[in-house]
Amino acid sequence: MKRHLSLLFCILPTSAWGLSLDDRIDLIVDTYNLEPEICTGNIDSVASDNRDTIGRIFFESTALSGNNDVACQTCHLDNRALSDGLPVAVGVGGSGEGAERMHSGGVLVKRNAFSLFGRSSTNYQNFFWDGRVGENEGKIFSPIGNGYNYGFSSPLSVAAVIPLLARDEFLGELDHFDQNEMLRSVNGEYYQERYRAANNYFENLFDEPMSPSISQLANSLRDEGANIANIDLPYIGNSLASFISSSSENCEPSGWERYLQGERRALTNSQKQGALVFYGQGRCAACHSGSLFSDFDFHSIGTPQGSFGVHMHQQDMGLGGVTFQNEDRYLFRTPPLLRVSETAPYGHNGTFESLEDVVLYHINPIPFFVDNGWENTRDKFTHGGILSKRDDILGYISIDSDSEFNNLIDFLKSL
Ligand code: HEC
Ligand code: HEC
Repeated sequence: MKRHLSLLFCILPTSAWGLSLDDRIDLIVDTYNLEPEICTGNIDSVASDNRDTIGRIFFESTALSGNNDVACQTCHLDNRALSDGLPVAVGVGGSGEGAERMHSGGVLVKRNAFSLFGRSSTNYQNFFWDGRVGENEGKIFSPIGNGYNYGFSSPLSVAAVIPLLARDEFLGELDHFDQNEMLRSVNGEYYQERYRAANNYFENLFDEPMSPSISQLANSLRDEGANIANIDLPYIGNSLASFISSSSENCEPSGWERYLQGERRALTNSQKQGALVFYGQGRCAACHSGSLFSDFDFHSIGTPQGSFGVHMHQQDMGLGGVTFQNEDRYLFRTPPLLRVSETAPYGHNGTFESLEDVVLYHINPIPFFVDNGWENTRDKFTHGGILSKRDDILGYISIDSDSEFNNLIDFLKSL
């Protein structure tokens, strides 16, 4: 918390006020060391072979899913900044895209899907809303242990295969997850055993006889020169990570990125004013810091439990569900904000329909409930616990006019 408070009062030196808008933003860019990230920034180099093309084949293949009905791109769509546009993702058993998918009877995954842009940045410190994959002191921490020991080349490579292992677990959680000691240890074991079983499965995926979809996958991989005898989960993860890196390399720079490269007119006046709010009285950069707009730390804005999927039955504990520490309950990783205007709805469970809704909720949660009421009686009584976790720093946000608020939203749209 000390770290926060020191940030509060020294965000803009008072001498900055005589300067032009651009000068003031320059000062911010220098102070925070901001650089363009997604298209030109610190992207881990794509492997020299054609691993990115092989990664795309895996990314698009439904043959990796148990029922042959889900691929990575089912939820990370090209036309939606590699996200899905849904409040929470819909996995196995679903069909179609968008609203159609939401009501197609598929399994509801408990969280809102992320865009994958910028994920191969060397500044990207941990993955998922609860940060369950990342790197610490040269070791990858993840539900499957230290991925380097298995041949994964980065935390992203591990994060990329977690969906393959977790799919059934999403189902399991609906009925069986509990805070009790025994289930916790079983849960801990569960992933690593799952990993071994899954790796074994993928090592033997291309054994004869193959199903038509698997043999099609084998042919596409062979066409790209892959030796299908060597394919295992680390190979798949490393290829997917290469593909994710390459999707960042080929992207269109945003207004903010062009501005950082010196194109003064890439931001509107209102977006420039919004940048000052973001780094000034909005206190946004206390958490959404750095070039990726995240401190990769865990906080609460008091987001209510969602109205879809697993939330209807139990609470999403966020980081607390990974560490099992009481103080970590309801904390979520500060989401990076690059391309945020393309990934509605917002929040870890997609509760907020618009940028306006989620930003206002940071400042004052009351209008949200006035407009939406309570999802159910249980929420009415349990939400106090969630609200009590709201980060203190949110109380220091001092935005007090519609124009400041609208400029801030405009700035977010330039990212
Ligand atoms: C059923 C929908 C669905 C499918 C299929 C899916 N994802 Fe995701 N993805 C999500 C959701 C939801 C999240 C956020 C989950 C969380 O944080 O707990 C996510 C998060 C991620 C992240 C972490 C991003 C970050 O910023 O932390 C990566 C990487 C990722 N997915 C890659 C993949 C890859 C690679 C595949 C294919 C093997 C895949 N996903 C398949 C829905 C999906
Ligand atoms: C105390 C740290 C903190 C501060 C300060 C903060 N945020 Fe956030 N922000 C978060 C967290 C944590 C979430 C995710 C909350 C959740 O899903 O439950 C979030 C979510 C968001 C989202 C939704 C992103 C998405 O992909 O769903 C936006 C947009 C956002 N914040 C913008 C802002 C703006 C603008 C400000 C300044 C007015 C701000 N934040 C200040 C921590 C913070």
